[in-house]
Amino acid sequence: MRTQVGIIGAGPAGLLLAQILHLNGIESVIVESRSRDEIERTIRAGVLEQSTVDLMTEIGAGDRLKREGFVHGGFELRFAGMGHRIDLQDLTNGRRITVYPQHEVLKDLIALRLGTGGPIHFEAKATGIEGLTAEQPVVRFTTKDGETRELFCDFVAGCDGGYGGSRAAIPEQLVRHDYFRAYPFGWFGILAKAPPSSEELIYAHHERGFALISTRSPEVQRMYFQCDPTDSVDSWSDDRIWNELQTRVGGDGFELKTGPIFQKGIIPLRSFVCEPMRHGRLFLAGDAAHSVPPTGAKGLNLAAADVHVLAQALASYYSNRSTALLDAYSPTALRRVWRAQHFSWWMTSMLHRFHEGPEFDVKRQIAELEFVTSSRAAATALAENYVGLPLA
Ligand code: DHB
Repeated sequence: MRTQVGIIGAGPAGLLLAQILHLNGIESVIVESRSRDEIERTIRAGVLEQSTVDLMTEIGAGDRLKREGFVHGGFELRFAGMGHRIDLQDLTNGRRITVYPQHEVLKDLIALRLGTGGPIHFEAKATGIEGLTAEQPVVRFTTKDGETRELFCDFVAGCDGGYGGSRAAIPEQLVRHDYFRAYPFGWFGILAKAPPSSEELIYAHHERGFALISTRSPEVQRMYFQCDPTDSVDSWSDDRIWNELQTRVGGDGFELKTGPIFQKGIIPLRSFVCEPMRHGRLFLAGDAAHSVPPTGAKGLNLAAADVHVLAQALASYYSNRSTALLDAYSPTALRRVWRAQHFSWWMTSMLHRFHEGPEFDVKRQIAELEFVTSSRAAATALAENYVGLPLA
């Protein structure tokens, strides 16, 4: 089997890349280890930057997003029992965010891909990538029927997420450097059948720890609270969860609207960057190359930004055989990655409970929260990062 770009992974990065390449007349084949059903049902983040929405629209995947996504012109920071609105639209010349779940993005992108006749091998496991520093790399994989295949291509895009294997094709000792930080806490995430408690997202600071009130639809709400990453979902009854959330977001009479919780899960928080994001003919994009703590919702948006840079570079190569943009891919993408690393760390450090004896941190955090909600300059810095930079 032969194609121009072999794409490992049908997450946001792989599917977006395939569609932009298709629009530029470049062929690709996607190899994905999960089933379509699993991809379309896995609950992930839900906040899209303006530039991610614009990219989805440009490539023809924006219709349902426009109809069903919820556009937010601001969000709330709550601390010391009071809410303070960050007016994104006012602070950033009209830029806004859209709440639209990642698995809905994936449904739209998979439908688009299959509609163009572009191949996706679901439940196919990549078993090796070779020849990355030669003329023609090859991706070996086994299909869901257990057959062994070889995919010869000009370039390989490693879009297989934080736990995928493509990153390992960059030799660790010679060229690769991994930057890693684990946080001593996780997020307990729930989906509940309940009406929204607030028109906009709420990021809450509390001595017991961070809480986030988000939404999925008028009937389904998404909420998170900081927890011990080794905790078990079974030790949290619905009542205990609602009490914890209410304690962390309450204070001035604000009451959460509750309802049956139908999904519970714990996610660890970590920061990770693999440098460089390229080795020979392999290009990493999205979580395969980096992950950020979820505070500030940058993960999916970073994947889209990587892919935008990579697709332009590949299009330039195929139109004039110039490798200049391919050579610039890793440094260009990494600048935005580190900006997002800093921002996600900043939001995390401003809002989470850090130590067992947190008095100093709480005072320092309240001072910072007062700063970002009272100084227009500080609020602007927060808002600009939150809505995201325009794509390069
Ligand atoms: C959501 C997730 C985030 O990490 C965030 O910062 C805001 C919202 C969400 O899943 O809705």
